[in-house]
Amino acid sequence: MTATDRRPVALVTGGGGDIGRAIALRLARMSDAVAIVDRDEAAANAVARLVEDGGGKALAISADVASARDTAAFIETVEARLGPIGIFANNAGIEGVVAPLHQYPDDTFDRVLQVNVKGVFLGLKHVLARMIPRGAGTIVNTASTSAIRGRAGLAGYVASKHAVLGLTRTAALEVGGTKIRVNAVLPGPIESRMIRELEGQSRDNAVALRRNGAAAHGRPQDVANIVAFLASDEAAHVNGAAWVVDGGMTVA
Ligand SMILES: NC(=O)c1ccc[n+]([C@@H]2O[C@H](COP(=O)([O-])OP(=O)(O)OC[C@H]3O[C@@H](n4cnc5c(N)ncnc54)[C@H](O)[C@@H]3O)[C@@H](O)[C@H]2O)c1
Repeated sequence: MTATDRRPVALVTGGGGDIGRAIALRLARMSDAVAIVDRDEAAANAVARLVEDGGGKALAISADVASARDTAAFIETVEARLGPIGIFANNAGIEGVVAPLHQYPDDTFDRVLQVNVKGVFLGLKHVLARMIPRGAGTIVNTASTSAIRGRAGLAGYVASKHAVLGLTRTAALEVGGTKIRVNAVLPGPIESRMIRELEGQSRDNAVALRRNGAAAHGRPQDVANIVAFLASDEAAHVNGAAWVVDGGMTVA
């Protein structure tokens, strides 16, 4: 195998979670190695073992994506241990709580924006700083259908995901005309811990998540397949896209 035959190294943040796990396993099929970053060390290790069980090479790192120091450090570690990052799934995120806006806790709002917006910004900043001099690489940010519509009871989350889409579009413009691409995947409700938590809180708080429209939940691998497509050469002309994966929920 020559250097040009090498497949990219992939990095997945929030790789220990339900969607992150599916992304890591899917990207392992098109990568030389996959780095799994998560603040939950045990979850990251478990996903790394799954990748290795499937014959792939994996590296698990425990870090907080909302910390600039952690982000600089894990990106340095991934490139030192595995090689240049060619695919970056900027996926870590938290849901906050379900509460009407007039009762939404300030500290929760701040933390949701810290992880979902600052975390995505820091990942973009530090990975692009390495991809731009190399002139290659693809990034897929995990936004949500909450990036393009309101959702009752989810003020922090909706604000944060609108911001993720704004960051995606800005980064896409900045790399326009190069071989680097930045896109967003926008999942609707996916069968996962996060959606079970939100639906549980919605029942408890009598806040009408159901007002947001009913659609069958997707599966984490439905999201992972689109991330893999957007990260691949098949999507060479796709930059700045907001790719909805919701079974048609948002066209209603
Ligand atoms: N589950 C859904 O229905 C759904 C729908 C749309 C978008 N999303 C988005 O998909 C992404 C993944 O969500 P999921 O459903 O897999 O949820 P999840 O809670 O299963 O996974 C999220 C992972 O991110 C990690 N994480 C959280 N904060 C972190 C931090 N500061 N630093 C490092 N890691 C951190 C968690 O430990 C967890 O493993 C999120 O950005 C979420 O907003 C999920």
